[in-house]
Amino acid sequence: MNWKHIFARKDLEVLLAEAAGEHRLHRVLGPWSLTALGVGCIIGAGIFVVTGRAAALDAGPGVILSYAIAGIGCALAALCYAEFAAMAPVAGSAYTYAYTTLGEVFAWIIGWDLILEYAMGCATVASAWTNYFNSLLDALHWPQIPYALCNPPWTVDSSTAGIINLPAVILVGLITVILVLGIRESARTNATLVSMKLVVVVFVIVLGVAYVKPSNWTSVPVSRRHLPEEKVVAEIVKEHLKGENKPKPTDERIAALESQVKASYRKPWEIQEMEELVQQGRMTPETREKRLAELDVAMPKSADETDEVEKLLPEVKEKGKKKAVESWGLLGTLGLNRWLTPIDEATRSPFMPYGFSGIMLGAAIVFFAFIGFDSISTHAEEARNPQRDVPFGILTSLFVCTLLYIIVAAVITGMVPYPDIDVKSPISTAFAQQPGADKSLLLRGATALISAGGLAGMTSVLLVLFLSQARVFMAMSRDGLLPEIFGTVHPKFQTPHIATMVTGAFIAVTAGLTPIKTLHEMVNIGTLLAFVMVCAAVFILRYQRPNSVRPFRCPIIYVVAPLGIFVNVLMMLFLPVDSWLRLVGWLSIGMVIYFAYSLRHSHLAKHLMQEIGMPRKEVTGTKFDPEVVE
Ligand code: ALA
Repeated sequence: MNWKHIFARKDLEVLLAEAAGEHRLHRVLGPWSLTALGVGCIIGAGIFVVTGRAAALDAGPGVILSYAIAGIGCALAALCYAEFAAMAPVAGSAYTYAYTTLGEVFAWIIGWDLILEYAMGCATVASAWTNYFNSLLDALHWPQIPYALCNPPWTVDSSTAGIINLPAVILVGLITVILVLGIRESARTNATLVSMKLVVVVFVIVLGVAYVKPSNWTSVPVSRRHLPEEKVVAEIVKEHLKGENKPKPTDERIAALESQVKASYRKPWEIQEMEELVQQGRMTPETREKRLAELDVAMPKSADETDEVEKLLPEVKEKGKKKAVESWGLLGTLGLNRWLTPIDEATRSPFMPYGFSGIMLGAAIVFFAFIGFDSISTHAEEARNPQRDVPFGILTSLFVCTLLYIIVAAVITGMVPYPDIDVKSPISTAFAQQPGADKSLLLRGATALISAGGLAGMTSVLLVLFLSQARVFMAMSRDGLLPEIFGTVHPKFQTPHIATMVTGAFIAVTAGLTPIKTLHEMVNIGTLLAFVMVCAAVFILRYQRPNSVRPFRCPIIYVVAPLGIFVNVLMMLFLPVDSWLRLVGWLSIGMVIYFAYSLRHSHLAKHLMQEIGMPRKEVTGTKFDPEVVE
């Protein structure tokens, strides 16, 4: 095998010739179906679940800015995606684009990386779906699914392990069947789900505005924010109680000690800030007394309790300092936080209680909510008029979703003080948290309706992400980088049924066995990397192929592509070092497979070998047509 093969590029004309060949998918999707696919894939677990974590723990009300920053990063990448999707309207998305610009090995890396976005993204959403399903059952006063059957066995903390996430596995199985049956059916199912979730999102905005208190954006004391120490209290308390030579501590005992420790280090600090706020007239004495009473309830009561808490506080503070570094992600691990922390201090305010790093970490987290717009480009081959409709679908769906996200984030952080926002189901719970909610039919109905909308939203995300993964596998198989069977299109249903079933099995196993946090972080870092590579690829192609026909041209590419790379890399830098290590591990596995299988079976490499006079038997079995490569 010649080394130059790994950088061999596929010709754009070959792609287009392939798109016109046999065994192609049906061109049935118009501009609005594509936009609906985009919205179907974008609005899901991100807005319904991730917003809560980002608002409460990472960014505060400033999550509105986080959404705007993540939206800008995606819009820049979307413009590049749109240019490429219009130039090469065939299945395969960023993978295909990289094959024609950067070379085979980079295409493989992107294709392998896209598995993180699409397949792992599906697994993440399926896991979140289970939690929402349980909360809907709860809202309806129906029995919940037992813990062991809703939680994976592989968890960071073994005490939270279950047996399997069964609802996620069943859901993925059902979706596999729908997708094997055909794209038209899938588009129809998707359109129904998209309508449902859009109605719910608009409902949240219209009803929620009535409950917004602007003081929640501007006047919640900075000292109310979740502190890095809080991330370590549970672990320290559990370790401490395990060390006691006594019967196994009850859950109540663990919870009581945790809240005593938290109240003990928070109280002096909150008192000081509240004093200043009252003096400045920004807080009423009644509000201060109410908060003090809350803290007092949690404080240790007896001398023994106080001693026990005092013993744990130094370790909590020490480990908390280390956790604080984590909010700077990889930058913190590299030690740059020493220079950057003053930026946090200077930017901290009730609107941005976690400072600049909080806004950026929030952006890297809520980025998940935008994932999916690029999946439209994987459907280029099924579009009736891909050159016009794919860029339209990408940009329209991204614009609509960004607008809705920013408004929903503003409404939720306006309805509930950010430290009290629920991290599991923030949107529906925001209504249940309003005063008098238990007696208000409207608020109770809203909570149930939003839970149902959340489930519909997540289901449609699963549907589209899943569909996209199968298409990327299919494109890779056509090029010989994956076994041929992945590219087989069903004669009756006209869908890549084998790729779909293999994808379904992979997602079901992953969702059933892996914890959601690990999945979510891997999805974000993998997708950000794919966006960076797409921006680079489109930029390079403008130099390499300046005269190619570009039905859609990204405006001011010399600004858009480099800025897209910058913003998306910046978000990556704020993700924790663990995510980086997992990304490196994942890509390394991909490289092993590439050199062990894909390079040997690549149709393009075989053709190049034929050109340099390698023995004929080396090139038999390829479907590649050398004529069209010249
Ligand atoms: N953007 C998709 C969601 O939020 C992945 O669920």
